[in-house]
Amino acid sequence: MTNDPSLFYDLHVFCCTHERDSRKASCGMRHADKLRGYLKDKVKEAGIRDMRINAAGCLNRCDLGPVMVIYPEGVWYHYQDHADIDEIFETHIRNGERVQRLMLPPGR
Ligand code: FES
Repeated sequence: MTNDPSLFYDLHVFCCTHERDSRKASCGMRHADKLRGYLKDKVKEAGIRDMRINAAGCLNRCDLGPVMVIYPEGVWYHYQDHADIDEIFETHIRNGERVQRLMLPPGR
């Protein structure tokens, strides 16, 4: 966690939960909303304040989804299941480190 007084939230997580009708890949078709809910519950149960877990529309990295981005650093992750969420929670959110194996490259 940071102590930057210019930040409204210490960490702000945007999880794409976008669903679309077409066959094009989307995070929603890969259970992103349930996984976001799982992360929200973990944060709440841990009593972590000054943090927000928002549902987001398409973040334009659909083929890599489900995806999330964590600010203020702007670190992108791909995740597939509860184990991935657990690792992001423990390593990034609680300990301020990176989960290298789940990080997406910054470029397109
Ligand atoms: S549907 Fe999630 S990034 Fe596009």
